[in-house]
Amino acid sequence: MPSTWRTILAVPEPALPAGHNGRISAPSKTTSHHHNHMRLALFQPDIAQNTGTMLRLAACLGISVDLIEPCGFVWSEAKLRRAGLDYLDHVDLRRHTSWAAFQRDRDPTRLVLLTTKGDVALPHFKFRADDTVMVGRESAGVPDKVHEAADARVVIPMRPGLRSLNVALAAAIAVAEALRQTGQWPQLVEQPVEQEVEVAP
Ligand SMILES: C[S@@+](CC[C@H](N)C(=O)[O-])C[C@H]1O[C@@H](n2cnc3c(N)ncnc32)[C@H](O)[C@@H]1O
Repeated sequence: MPSTWRTILAVPEPALPAGHNGRISAPSKTTSHHHNHMRLALFQPDIAQNTGTMLRLAACLGISVDLIEPCGFVWSEAKLRRAGLDYLDHVDLRRHTSWAAFQRDRDPTRLVLLTTKGDVALPHFKFRADDTVMVGRESAGVPDKVHEAADARVVIPMRPGLRSLNVALAAAIAVAEALRQTGQWPQLVEQPVEQEVEVAP
């Protein structure tokens, strides 16, 4: 048994049996191009930096993204790369030209809207593995028709008197909870590292 180990990120594996410590002995696949079933939908985002942050979140956690346009900024790979660095290459991203196009093309899974006007609090909401978690625009949330189309409207509880969280932080909090509940966090994998050779003095 090698004496030193290094921890790397690997693809999500199916939920582990009770009592398993969450570590598996060797990665079966490489990291970047595998995605679990959870999706994050961005409704007409206004701010490129927030969008880049959410694309990076999705890349790192293995979540696919639906971008519902028009965006409030000119879509520029260069701009997004500045915010999301090279993570853009690792995101499974579907762009939709409108809300109607998204509605037409999306998979028939649940749409879970994150909204400050939600009727169920995040800690009480039961996610499914293939939910699409949607966030609204920084400036205006989502219009009524989107509220009406949502299968669930979830609020992240906050202290009274404060308006809202940054959209990317709201996405991260909810997605983390959704992955936890559905056992879809990428697994930490322990991998043997070549033992260093000691050089004689
Ligand atoms: C800055 S907020 C939008 C605030 C907007 N003025 C409104 O009335 O909806 C941008 C998005 O972040 C998400 N968000 C922010 N805080 C939230 C919270 N406490 N609970 C759920 N979603 C939240 C929602 O998806 C929201 O549409």
